[in-house]
Amino acid sequence: MADIAAAKKPIAGLQGVVVADSEISYVDGQAGKLVYRGYSIEDLAANSTFEETTKLLLDGALPSRSELDQFEAELSGARVLDSEIIDLIRAYPTDAQPMAVLRTAVSALGLFDPDSEDIGPDATRRKAIRLVAKFPVIVAAFERHRNGHDPIDPRDDLAHAANFLYMLTGSDPDPEDARVMDVCLILHAEHGMNASTFSARVTAATLSDIHSAVTSAIGTLKGALHGGANQEVMKMLLEIDQRGIEPADFVRAMLDRKERVMGFGHRVYKTMDPRAPILRRFSRDLTARAGQQKWFTISEQILETMAAEKGIDPNVDFFSASTYHALGIPADLFTPIFAISRVSGWSTHVEAQYRHNRLIRPRANYVGPRDLTYVPIEKR
Ligand code: CMC
Repeated sequence: MADIAAAKKPIAGLQGVVVADSEISYVDGQAGKLVYRGYSIEDLAANSTFEETTKLLLDGALPSRSELDQFEAELSGARVLDSEIIDLIRAYPTDAQPMAVLRTAVSALGLFDPDSEDIGPDATRRKAIRLVAKFPVIVAAFERHRNGHDPIDPRDDLAHAANFLYMLTGSDPDPEDARVMDVCLILHAEHGMNASTFSARVTAATLSDIHSAVTSAIGTLKGALHGGANQEVMKMLLEIDQRGIEPADFVRAMLDRKERVMGFGHRVYKTMDPRAPILRRFSRDLTARAGQQKWFTISEQILETMAAEKGIDPNVDFFSASTYHALGIPADLFTPIFAISRVSGWSTHVEAQYRHNRLIRPRANYVGPRDLTYVPIEKR
């Protein structure tokens, strides 16, 4: 039989390749729609919470009141980090990149997890809940450590998003801020076969454990073309402000240099990312409330220039930058916040991969030399 890989050209970036059936979420790139388990992202953002959305993703249906109460109790009960993990975080360099910290700490969590090597469905679900619960605690503990403070213990009387904001500062968060963070977590929780989810599924498909799969996913989310874009957006806004340059001139100069403008474009959406308008409203309202309208104004000018020059719309990362900045969150925590949310989607996909598993193992089209004869080193 002919070798199929020898006859096929690669599909750059696997664009358009369908690698699995999925009941988890639907991304309609033409219509600009995002649906989790049948519910539109707008509906969930208006009415749900991150905890309920996570339960929806994991189980496939909205929970009853008692199911949600129990799930929330499981999540808040799983927040506390083992002292060994706290000690590890205390040993990390204070100038470490927070996504690298999260990747390393999540990998370490696996070492101490009582179900560590068990990839059965019950153990995987217990680990998924622990991972979702502990992500914000790790991020907040590192933020405290690098600023010379002790970590703040999580509170089990606060919801997931509110507790994260509390652990950053030690103050009870403003309810409006907590709700904005909650909705941001809903918006980022799941997005089809995105790059980091694919990483998680590739790792799970070898029958490796969920901590390994999620660690792979964090490494993939970290990159500037994926989750790292939101931090890059903030860098751009700050640079425009510091240099006192017109946003339109700044963007045109980037485009002339053939550079990517972060927070714009998408592999799947060919129209506005449906999460962007929700974040745009948050950006407008929160920057106004904080007396920092300039970040929204600069963002709007960038948006107009990108529309005029390239016809490219913003993605989820663009307005999340100014929104998080107005909440007082440092720019290099923006991508970890994405991860705090996306761990729900990753976990759901890992469970789905185990249920219908087949090793994911594509081929490469070999274009290198052939039929060479080995030359001894002294004759090269
Ligand atoms: N700035 C300038 N030009 C762009 C951008 C951008 N942000 N995005 C796409 N283009 C242009 C690109 O130059 C190309 O033009 P041409 O055909 O003239 O060479 C065309 O649009 C198609 O680009 P592509 O690279 O073939 O598209 P892709 O599907 O491979 O890339 C993307 C998708 C998200 C990597 C890309 O749009 C990009 O680099 N955006 C900036 C990074 C970013 O915001 N990433 C977050 C993505 S959404 C959230 C997430 O998943 O994390």
